[in-house]
Amino acid sequence: MERAKQIALLEELQGLKDNGLFFLDDEVAKSPITRYASQDRFDAEMRDIFRGVPIIACHASELPEPGSFMTRELSGLPVLLTRDRDNTVHAFINVCRHRGARLVREGSGCKNAFSCPYHAWTWGNNGTLRGVPHQKEGFPGLDRDAHALKRLPAMERYGLVWVIANPDAQPDFDSFLTPLAGEFAWAEMETLAIAATDTIERKANWKLLAEGGIEAYHFKVTHRDTIGPHFLDNLSSYETLGSHMRSVLPRSSLPELNGTDPAEWDIRTEANVLYTVFPTSQFLVMQDHIGWIELIPLAPDLTRLRLTTLAPKSEITPDKEEHWKRNHAITSVTLNEDFEVNEEVQSGLLSGANESLTFGRYEGALDAFNREIERHLTPGAA
Ligand code: FES
Ligand SMILES: [Fe+2]
Repeated sequence: MERAKQIALLEELQGLKDNGLFFLDDEVAKSPITRYASQDRFDAEMRDIFRGVPIIACHASELPEPGSFMTRELSGLPVLLTRDRDNTVHAFINVCRHRGARLVREGSGCKNAFSCPYHAWTWGNNGTLRGVPHQKEGFPGLDRDAHALKRLPAMERYGLVWVIANPDAQPDFDSFLTPLAGEFAWAEMETLAIAATDTIERKANWKLLAEGGIEAYHFKVTHRDTIGPHFLDNLSSYETLGSHMRSVLPRSSLPELNGTDPAEWDIRTEANVLYTVFPTSQFLVMQDHIGWIELIPLAPDLTRLRLTTLAPKSEITPDKEEHWKRNHAITSVTLNEDFEVNEEVQSGLLSGANESLTFGRYEGALDAFNREIERHLTPGAA
């Protein structure tokens, strides 16, 4: 993000605050509850979105060197991520091409070849079939190329590994990712690594969990005992960046900028900057670290979340361990205040109280997020 843009974003919010105004959309919007509670809708999202667009599979630092690998479930698919000897990242379906066993059982490690636990067919970490026990008699004329690991489109960019969980997808990574280029360069995403991480499950639709982070209308209420006092009441801005979004959530200190030299301003001191990376990742850029929320949709009313603290690699040292743990815990406690409410919303969706949820003019980012989702769904599919 350009320096001039950072100043403009702070000036915009400061101007609103000074005049007792808010960042408002033109209209109130409605969000039908079927978006959050229908199996048909969830199936359409799985087909058109989670298996249609690039999803962040891991941070590049999770595959730190040639030979590194990790396994993950991505959009319901078991996925094997590898880094080969040329430093190229690959993604494969983690299923044996002989009779379908789970090829790699470990979560992560360093290996140049993977041998199936069932009959020991073996593949290199670039996906080529290297060995088949007793091939000559048992599999005469075996076409080894046709039995390479099933490849998924993958790309390493901005310190992140992006994968489309569909081997037949026609990838267009560039148009999807380019709007994030300047933002992630500013956030120095490539210089970061994982300082802390944990995984939880919440009984709520993935969209409710994402929506909770992109408005400040709830800050002083839901977070009154945690971060609420540190942020301005009901003030935040947003801007769409292609399919993605940047939100700026100003701290209580923002009015102190009045009369000071903008050349001295630092947006990371005055605000949290939140990137909603379509569809399922959010990066909360804070003063010295980034909170990364990954939503892993499991069912219409169930989502796994991986909460990760990313910090500069050079700052992840034994003497700073407590510092990162403490920051991770603060983010985690705050997010769980949101998630508790989101679970209650989910449990009340089919109560008959509402046919749709209402997004006020303060909550325009939620409508923009949902419109982008609708744009990706095949019309009439659900
Ligand atoms: S199922 Fe993997 S080698 Fe047979
Ligand atoms: Fe919140």
